[in-house]
Amino acid sequence: MRKQTISLELGTRIEFWARAIDKNATEFPFRIMQAGQTLWAVKRFSEFPEFYSYHHRETSEVDIEWNDSVTEITFAYAYNPKSVSKLGITILEFDQQLIERTGTEIDTWCASDAQRPRLHFSPVKNWMNDPNGLCKIGDTWHLFYQFHPGGPDWAPMHWGHATSRNLCTWLHMPVFLHPEQNLARLGATGGAFSGCAFKDRDGTLKFYYTERLPAYDLFNGYREIQKIAEPGRDIVKAERITTILETRPEGVKHDFRDPKVWWDRAANAYRMTLGASIERDPAVLLYGSDDGMEWQYLGPLYRAPANFREEGARAVECPDFFQLEDKWVLVMGFVGHIEPTTGRHNLLYALIGEFIDDHFIPDTPELQLLDFGTDYYAMQSFEADGRQIAFAWLFNWEYRKPEGSSYSGEMSLPRVLSLSEDKKKVCMLPALEFDEHYAAIPLITKKTGDYSLPDAPIDIRLSGPLEGSKLVATKNGDLAFELSVVSNVLSIRLAQDDGSIQYVTRLGKGHDLRLVHDRGVVEIFADGGAVCGTRRGYVHIEPDRLEISSTACAEVFERRSK
Ligand code: FRU
Repeated sequence: MRKQTISLELGTRIEFWARAIDKNATEFPFRIMQAGQTLWAVKRFSEFPEFYSYHHRETSEVDIEWNDSVTEITFAYAYNPKSVSKLGITILEFDQQLIERTGTEIDTWCASDAQRPRLHFSPVKNWMNDPNGLCKIGDTWHLFYQFHPGGPDWAPMHWGHATSRNLCTWLHMPVFLHPEQNLARLGATGGAFSGCAFKDRDGTLKFYYTERLPAYDLFNGYREIQKIAEPGRDIVKAERITTILETRPEGVKHDFRDPKVWWDRAANAYRMTLGASIERDPAVLLYGSDDGMEWQYLGPLYRAPANFREEGARAVECPDFFQLEDKWVLVMGFVGHIEPTTGRHNLLYALIGEFIDDHFIPDTPELQLLDFGTDYYAMQSFEADGRQIAFAWLFNWEYRKPEGSSYSGEMSLPRVLSLSEDKKKVCMLPALEFDEHYAAIPLITKKTGDYSLPDAPIDIRLSGPLEGSKLVATKNGDLAFELSVVSNVLSIRLAQDDGSIQYVTRLGKGHDLRLVHDRGVVEIFADGGAVCGTRRGYVHIEPDRLEISSTACAEVFERRSK
């Protein structure tokens, strides 16, 4: 047994996920003691990571005892509900000693992982996927995310949570939402799947989300239902959960998820989209409600052309439907889809059009590829301060983080969406907050050549004709990333690419390009944001040289917190 004394304030909560790694362990491998008396203890952990919660009811010192040779504590933190909005959680690491980290101590610890991006949000530990429940309440940004506290792989889903005052640096908050059942013990997956934040006209905040009920097969026969989670005080915990939709329309198989809800002024009623498939074609369903609780199916909002089904797409995931300027935009991920000409997986597509009498009429049937790099998935946008802001998950199931990492998953930089001048393209550019928060230290200006790079995130800008441009970033001759423009086709290659998949796109004007590199993450914005490409590389090569060859003006900046 290991033992350590810590001080706890009145009202402190300790929450953790733990499992037995030795089933024959002696009893009480975890105890909280005060003056020799047991205050709270766990008699036996199960072989599955399960949730435990302790509430301390006075201000005192306690002795914590744990046995790390028989127990794995996969995620643990303490917080005081009274101060957590300001201070965030204190991460507890039960190693040979108990290490406590709060606020910037967590950031410093995260930054010490040489492979963890510095400008992109990632969970402190364990698996993260889609952004959820994005919103700005008062002057606080809320980022919720699909999270598995039990380990670095996808498994029963919870909602992790972080807040920010600047959209760039984040305070880690307690896990907000849990699966309705102890899924690991059932030998099942599922849980609290993706969803959105919805601010009602009277200002109340609700989260609409999907619960996948215990699923014993990842691809078939599961049941997905829609729920509302109402936040308690300070948006720290989901407190009231209500099921609002349990049955699917005819012809819609098991995929029935990821609600996006809005108050529709034209209909004077609530509207919701869900990702699904209709007779195996990926589709988006439209629902309506007068009170936000009772929902009626209004019909399909969109059904993908047959080629998507034929090319492997099983359903639409995380549809996002919103007004942008005077148009409506539908954004969709087609899970399972492989684009035949280039081999890219799970691309994200957009359509621009009108939304009239509950019908979406795209201006053109042709889908816009929203991000040609593929590692920009499950995008969720929301309206705040008069802007449509989006985050996406930097992943697409093609490559995965090598074993041994304490976490998996990063979010994109915050992007602001707009329409191109001709209203034919959705454009995305990093939010102003990014440029305001991170200092730009000029490294290279206006020259073609071979330069050395610092060990830091970099921001490259090319302005002028991009045709023939090439950027090659290396370390000791090994490729980190390479970008080129040949015959107006922009392509990106990372260390891990063997050429079997092509990450390419056609440029429009081809006169401006921005590339942000942050420890394996490459985000590209060209043509005023009408062309975006995001990659997350896992063969980690931190470049120390950059070769630029271009007739455009090149500027390179190091980006770091001011
Ligand atoms: C997309 C997705 C969503 C689902 C969630 C589950 O990445 O599959 O459709 O709600 O992730 O974690």
